[in-house]
Amino acid sequence: MSKLRVVLAGLGVRGRHWAEVLVRSPRCEIVAYADPNPEAVARAQAQYGQHPAFASAEEALNALPAVDALILANPPIGREKQLSAACARKVPVLVEKPLALSVNEAATLVKMAESAGIPLMVGLNFRYLGVTLETMRLLRDGVVGKAEFGRFTYERYRDGNRPDLNKYPLTMDQPMLWEQSIHHFDLMRYVYGQEPVLVQAQTWNPSWSMYESDTNVAALFTFDGGMVANYQGTWQSGWAEPRFEWRTDCTNGILSQQHQFGELHYARHNDPALTPVTLPPHEQWITETAGLLDAFTRSLLDGAPLQCSGRDHLMSLAMVEACAVSSRESRSVQIASVLPSDDGIHDHIL
Ligand SMILES: NC(=O)c1ccc[n+]([C@@H]2O[C@H](COP(=O)([O-])OP(=O)(O)OC[C@H]3O[C@@H](n4cnc5c(N)ncnc54)[C@H](O)[C@@H]3O)[C@@H](O)[C@H]2O)c1
Repeated sequence: MSKLRVVLAGLGVRGRHWAEVLVRSPRCEIVAYADPNPEAVARAQAQYGQHPAFASAEEALNALPAVDALILANPPIGREKQLSAACARKVPVLVEKPLALSVNEAATLVKMAESAGIPLMVGLNFRYLGVTLETMRLLRDGVVGKAEFGRFTYERYRDGNRPDLNKYPLTMDQPMLWEQSIHHFDLMRYVYGQEPVLVQAQTWNPSWSMYESDTNVAALFTFDGGMVANYQGTWQSGWAEPRFEWRTDCTNGILSQQHQFGELHYARHNDPALTPVTLPPHEQWITETAGLLDAFTRSLLDGAPLQCSGRDHLMSLAMVEACAVSSRESRSVQIASVLPSDDGIHDHIL
């Protein structure tokens, strides 16, 4: 097989990143679009090439004889239909985060893919940023020693009514946690190389929020290697100017990432100032999504191990759900307590 023949389903904000990356990829080609919205289809046809278009991924998979992969960039609501169509046709799937809006539903989808023997990868593009990989290298090389505690701050005024942004977060439960914090929680697991054990969290919604449910999250996580991370995220910052800092305190200094796509610094214990770290060139939303696609392609075409598997994703989703439970019930929550206990998920996180 020279190129992966890909059906791209969901042609909104994220689907257009995917279309751009697929068009540039030497190892993939779009063979069909799927989206119930004719305007979204027309825009994709005009920008990314003319291809057969269908109202759903299921229709596309039923109609086309030769499909090697399905990329699902539709909202995370009711993805079972698309996934079962892919399972029936044995088509590997790369699905946008969050896989589903509950750990139980996500676990059902993971089991469905595993029973069918199809690879299921989740779109955790931030793992493929130069800044993420460089942070991991600095930690691995012990440049500032061993990580012991962290503070992750993400402050953004996300105008949910902006015409170019998706609308379902306005009415969903816990939009910040499921749509945004999921990336941050996944990054903590990935970069620290530890699994979460316990969380104490509170979520709330400021008086000016246009979202029906909570856009503020404060959480204190404990990990199994002893790491403790303090998280604060908001989509309804009082200031429209975004702010980001992910600081990790280590035995001999700190690492500080000051932009969600870059700006990495470190300081050793007695340094008077931060030292900037050189990062590779980056095109926002494209370079790291291309890295994700490359990992998917290498898994399907070259037999490389699957990264960001659906099963691995369950632990990051469990962090999200445990925060919601902790806030609702005003108590600390063991992360394992929100994972289904009947299928070995605890033992098989990759
Ligand atoms: N990884 C990232 O950095 C990132 C960034 C943005 C969004 N996302 C994720 O991408 C997904 C989509 O978000 P978005 O911002 O593009 O939303 P959006 O609302 O802008 O677009 C969703 C598109 O999916 C279409 N759609 C709805 N149901 C469909 C179905 N059954 N089959 C095919 N298409 C369908 C809609 O018509 C719409 O065009 C979400 O899971 C979101 O969390 C990820």
